[in-house]
Amino acid sequence: MNVIVVGTGIAGLTAALRADEAGHDVMIVTKGLLGGGCTPLAQGGIAGVYGEGDSPASHAEDTIIAGAGLSDPAAVEVLVREGGARIAELVARGVVFDRGPDGRLLLGREAAHSHARVVHAGGDATGAAVSDALVAAVRASAIQVREHAFLLDLIVLDGAVRGIRLLEGTAAVDLSADAVILATGGAGRLYAHTTNPEGATGDGIAAALRAGADVADLEFVQFHPTVLAEGPGFLISEAVRGEGATLLDDDDRRFAFDAHPDGELAPRDVVSRAIARRTAAQGGPVRLDATALGASTLARRFPTIDRVTRERGFDWARQPIPVTPAAHYLMGGIVTDLDGRTTLPGLFAVGEAARSGVHGANRLASNSLLEGAVFGARAAVALGVASGADPALGLPPRQRKRPLRRDESPRPARDFSRAALQMLMWDEVGLLRTDDGLTRALDLIQSWRTDLPAPRSVAQHEDANLLLLAEAAASAALARTESVGAHFREPALIGV
Ligand code: SIN
Repeated sequence: MNVIVVGTGIAGLTAALRADEAGHDVMIVTKGLLGGGCTPLAQGGIAGVYGEGDSPASHAEDTIIAGAGLSDPAAVEVLVREGGARIAELVARGVVFDRGPDGRLLLGREAAHSHARVVHAGGDATGAAVSDALVAAVRASAIQVREHAFLLDLIVLDGAVRGIRLLEGTAAVDLSADAVILATGGAGRLYAHTTNPEGATGDGIAAALRAGADVADLEFVQFHPTVLAEGPGFLISEAVRGEGATLLDDDDRRFAFDAHPDGELAPRDVVSRAIARRTAAQGGPVRLDATALGASTLARRFPTIDRVTRERGFDWARQPIPVTPAAHYLMGGIVTDLDGRTTLPGLFAVGEAARSGVHGANRLASNSLLEGAVFGARAAVALGVASGADPALGLPPRQRKRPLRRDESPRPARDFSRAALQMLMWDEVGLLRTDDGLTRALDLIQSWRTDLPAPRSVAQHEDANLLLLAEAAASAALARTESVGAHFREPALIGV
């Protein structure tokens, strides 16, 4: 088969390598460079190695609890049962995970995990180690790589995906394929504050929506609790809290315990909201205190964070550092079955672009690289038997969409810009949501969409994709009237 994989994170590279090894003709397409995207930025690690007293069943339970009960148990079962083999495969491909003096893998603990089960590489450089190994394997293979090629749309013929349309320079180029695997990541750039790189504009999810694939759960956006509050969004890994760092307010009080008995290691959505509320109440950022870990431990265990915080003028071994939540991960995406098949024949989706059913309403820390490896491999195996996702799987309904309200809504007070959209999403479709705020946001997004000129450049196409996903996310958030997981609704008058 001719297979096109769009995206170069762990999910896409795993799918491409496995498809190549199975004898398919594979091409990887990316709008950036091979080795770009979110994966190289991942700090925490990969959950899935079970020490004494731990088990796949316990990992599954933690995943489902973090997902607020909305995970698909069958998908979670696949994740925890197949994770160990995929981690072993990464080792075989050359990823050097950190080990203790006895040669055993060092296992980190992160929030909402009941055991230490997270393997890491280079201390806090796990994603970079994974990306380097997979990129090297791709370069050594027969896989073709097409860089600086922007996905404009999927080509659909007779109800099946038959290829992709790219923008290369100023030219539109059509490529045919027997199967297309979207591994284009999430859409963190919907928000003013995010840990995601600039390219995280949801291009694959938007293309799938336009092609008619089912998309779901876009209201579930995970906000990471601890991003350095000064400078561009730099993640301070959850593993730092896992090692014992604490969150302090202006009175040096560990306020996270007000929100949850697990304090700093409560699920991410709980900690993020506690920080947002405390930040608003005290009129400035809360602080993460890692001083008790000591300078040498911090430098050894978290070399990347140690370097970047120092570059930004903070000595975190001596003083707590200011932190804020930021958009981090999209739980929703293109609906797939357990093999990455979407509802469109010929189209697969893996990794953050997919809604595989693993994460429910809130992803458990360090389950994302794992999901990419597990479901990327499964999609490659399923290529030969591609068909539309089986309706018997009980897939969620197509994302509910409100019709455009052109005539009802006043013209927008603000002109569209990406920054204006990101601020609107942060304010109204962010950590704390109200009916009024969501309605206002949706009206503005819809009028921006209506007025947007036909896109020509890559940046304009990205804007159009962001607006499409913003509309879908705000509609989904408005339609889900209860608070669950990362989606938190509160009465309009209460505020933060
Ligand atoms: C982190 O290191 O805190 C991020 C890990 C993750 O998002 O799973």
